[in-house]
Amino acid sequence: MIVKLTQVCSMFLSKYVSEGDTVIDATMGNGMDTLFLAKLVGNNGKVFSFDIQQEALIRTKRLLEKEMIDTKNIHLIHDSHINIKNYVNDAVSAVVFNLGYLPEGDHGITTISESTINALRISLELLKKDGLVSVMIYPGHEEGIIEKDNVLNYARQLDAKRYHILYLDMVNQSNLPPSLLLITKKQE
Ligand SMILES: C[S@@+](CC[C@H](N)C(=O)[O-])C[C@H]1O[C@@H](n2cnc3c(N)ncnc32)[C@H](O)[C@@H]1O
Repeated sequence: MIVKLTQVCSMFLSKYVSEGDTVIDATMGNGMDTLFLAKLVGNNGKVFSFDIQQEALIRTKRLLEKEMIDTKNIHLIHDSHINIKNYVNDAVSAVVFNLGYLPEGDHGITTISESTINALRISLELLKKDGLVSVMIYPGHEEGIIEKDNVLNYARQLDAKRYHILYLDMVNQSNLPPSLLLITKKQE
């Protein structure tokens, strides 16, 4: 069923991530993606989650406690996703980006094209063969429109021999709806 693109994204992630994997949530926010990834990888997997706002770490920690998730292998990192490589050395099976601003937070602090694209480039380096990078794109704010264009242009120039890319857009929705970019690595 096609309901929300975030659900479609979760459906794909559940096919690409297995128990015991290492995965990254590049934009932690309220922690919904971190929670979902933690459930997919289980107690033997690892989740590395990034956000530049302390508030995101507080909310995510609270959510994981409420859901009684074992947080031993969940790393909540207060840093930009451009510094992923300072924390993650393992090959990863998925990297999740949910662009934009923290819901019910400061709407002036958003992901921005330049760092998002740098983090995408780094994510593709860390990605295992047959792994998935997902990007939920929200053009409903000023930086979001620019970021959407730049992220799609970045994706378009990726080597078609190494990456399969799928782009899902809700074509009959008004008011600049979100869209979903999925990148899989088919060759190292
Ligand atoms: C739309 S929210 C993410 C929602 C989140 N995935 C969830 O499940 O609730 C985007 C988040 O990206 C964060 N962000 C912005 N720039 C960032 C950066 N350079 N590195 C990491 N996080 C960043 C924002 O602080 C915000 O919390």
